[in-house]
Amino acid sequence: MDLFVRDIYPLPPGAPFEGYFVVEHVEIRKHRTGEPFLRLILSDKTGTFTALWWKPPKDADLTIFKKGDVVFVSGHVEYFQGNLQPKLNVIRHAEREEFDPEKFITKTRFPIDEQFLKLLEFVESVQNPPLRTLLESFFYDDNFVEKFNKAPAGKTIHHASIGGLLEHTLGVAEICETIAKRFKSIDRDLLLTAALLHDIGKVEEYAVDIAITRTDKGILLGHLYIGCEMIATKIREIPNFPEELKTKLIHCILSHHGEYEHGSPKKPKTLEAVALAYADALDSRVKGFEEHIERELGDKKGWTRRHFAFEVPIFFDGEFKYEEEE
Ligand SMILES: [Fe+2]
Ligand SMILES: [Fe+2]
Repeated sequence: MDLFVRDIYPLPPGAPFEGYFVVEHVEIRKHRTGEPFLRLILSDKTGTFTALWWKPPKDADLTIFKKGDVVFVSGHVEYFQGNLQPKLNVIRHAEREEFDPEKFITKTRFPIDEQFLKLLEFVESVQNPPLRTLLESFFYDDNFVEKFNKAPAGKTIHHASIGGLLEHTLGVAEICETIAKRFKSIDRDLLLTAALLHDIGKVEEYAVDIAITRTDKGILLGHLYIGCEMIATKIREIPNFPEELKTKLIHCILSHHGEYEHGSPKKPKTLEAVALAYADALDSRVKGFEEHIERELGDKKGWTRRHFAFEVPIFFDGEFKYEEEE
């Protein structure tokens, strides 16, 4: 039976298991006798574990396994210094039709079509004509929308799922709408436009297959710059788009990570920019907590292990809810 990583952890030492996993890391090591063995880090969407191919057959080619490969393995559970470290009897490359890609990459829990309709309501609520035209040039373009609705918003920290970008964008827009109601001096149309466009560069920053990877362009340029370039290109096609409005909008996009060390070349210096940066941080941090809980606990309750980036374990004894019950 194809087990998820999180279902291997509770198994007792000696228990057999098998399944399909992605190779995250692989190295050839040597026993004291000089015989080679393989040490691998394997993963699926629920977690990772280290495994050893302890006694490969003498004629086995250990160099054929590479990072990113999907492999079928079977073995039995062992622990080394308190950490799960199974030994494998079998490891081989898996054919594409053998496994379900959804084992490796999650999809947003929210229905994509419904979410997109809600996003269009935000587009249509923008009254400022040049901003509205700009939004329509993206969200009424089928080609762009197809990519946007599938894109993830991240690789590991938050919204690392198909449709994650749409879910995150809508979350940020809803938070920004609330902020604009509270702080009347905010230019609501500018803030909402910035919210809807703030991460569009991610459409080109990430590629999705059995794993979410960053593209060469994404690594070299990043989604802040890519997004600004996409926006500037569209604005050039809109007659008489006010230069000052363009500057304020681009400032929001460039500063939305808030701090230089988080990748923003500018710190927020307008009401709309500071509101967007906090709305973005809020939506991504809470979602990052949720994803960690779900990955680690599944249906269980209690404590997760420490999150590598947030640097805390997380406690959860509630129930996951994804949609409003109507
Ligand atoms: Fe961003
Ligand atoms: Fe974002």
